[in-house]
Amino acid sequence: MKVKEIVLGPHVLGSGLEKALEITPYEVILEIKDSKIKGRGGAGFPTGLKWQFAANEPEPTKFIICNADEGEPGTFKDRILLTDHPYKVLEGMAIAGYAIGAKQGFIYLRGEYNYLRQHIQNHIDSMKEKGFLGKKILGKDFSFDVEIRMGAGAYVCGEEFALIESMNGYRGEPHNKPPFPTQQGYLRKPTIVNNVETFCKVNFIISKGAEWIREYGTELSTGTKLFSVSGDVKHPGLYEFELGITVNQLLKEVGAEDAKAVQVGGASGINVARKDFNKTISYETLPPGGSIIVFGPNRDMLHALKNFMDFFVEESCGQCTPCREGNYRLLEGIEMLEKGECSVRYLKELITLSEVMKDSSKCGLGQSSPNCFLSIIENFRDEILYR
Ligand SMILES: Cc1cc2nc3c(=O)[nH]c(=O)nc-3n(C[C@H](O)[C@H](O)[C@H](O)COP(=O)(O)O)c2cc1C
Ligand code: SF4
Repeated sequence: MKVKEIVLGPHVLGSGLEKALEITPYEVILEIKDSKIKGRGGAGFPTGLKWQFAANEPEPTKFIICNADEGEPGTFKDRILLTDHPYKVLEGMAIAGYAIGAKQGFIYLRGEYNYLRQHIQNHIDSMKEKGFLGKKILGKDFSFDVEIRMGAGAYVCGEEFALIESMNGYRGEPHNKPPFPTQQGYLRKPTIVNNVETFCKVNFIISKGAEWIREYGTELSTGTKLFSVSGDVKHPGLYEFELGITVNQLLKEVGAEDAKAVQVGGASGINVARKDFNKTISYETLPPGGSIIVFGPNRDMLHALKNFMDFFVEESCGQCTPCREGNYRLLEGIEMLEKGECSVRYLKELITLSEVMKDSSKCGLGQSSPNCFLSIIENFRDEILYR
């Protein structure tokens, strides 16, 4: 299971878009559905299905949003795609626009990536000059433009509804679903929100065919995936692997065979200990997210956990009680553990609280923030209780 270069590899500018415009929007969606590709933003929702929902909406004004808010700790894959491959992202957005009947797309760019704004704008302008964006794309009856909107540094604004609310000019807060963005998104019109990597992938699916992409990955997790690899590794950086790679295989490739633990999927992901390094990274086993953080043999796992929980306490939007109070209580418990003041009984209560948070928080932040607490406590119980 070696490094692949599909999303990161060569691509003839416009080849995906040209092919898309030769078939009907319905056929484009069928091809994406047939590829079984899942969104690369973390939640793993099937991309083709999302597009179909938006395409089926009778409202004629629709929008495409590229989620480039990339705030998950340890993740930098979207930054690299927007730096080195922005035209692949823009082309994927245009294909999506054609498929669902949208004329306008937006890149919601993380506030900290402001320095990339002009660079991306230059690529938008150059694609317009070449006829891949703008009016009558490639001489066909299809127009599509892209505008950049800036985020302001809130992690929660990567959540699709918080993102849309902030674009609508309101506080960037998630809200209950339904309605879904495909029904009422930007300006309350049908909108698809996809990750930067998802849009890149679309080009290759359309230009090379769904069958081709299905040759990579597993039955339920097709294709390759980008991983931002950091921590105690010899060769940190951006890697592209087939989904279904085991943690062991990945560690070997990046030079971290002595790892004690691996955080798969960023702070909101799962902590995996050595005993589980034979597990595969895939939507059915260990959901991939965008980042792999490696912990070497001498790392203090309680300290690592405290770092993650600090982040969630800071970034919770505070709208719902399980997340606002729960993250705070988990952090407080970690501090008690550090001082040797947390009883085993109270630790069990915190584990129950984590389960309640997962079930009752309003959005993915509060639903996933207890993951690191639960997995680190389970994997390193002896090390932690010894204190
Ligand atoms: C707190 C939070 C932060 C998120 N941040 C991002 C992000 O930075 N980029 C992203 O693509 N998705 C992020 N998501 C997931 C989005 O809500 C959404 O599922 C995703 O953009 C859909 O794209 P996809 O279908 O291509 O995966 C976040 C979700 C939550 C709950
Ligand atoms: S789960 Fe957290 S971030 Fe999400 S709405 Fe509730 S308080 Fe806000």
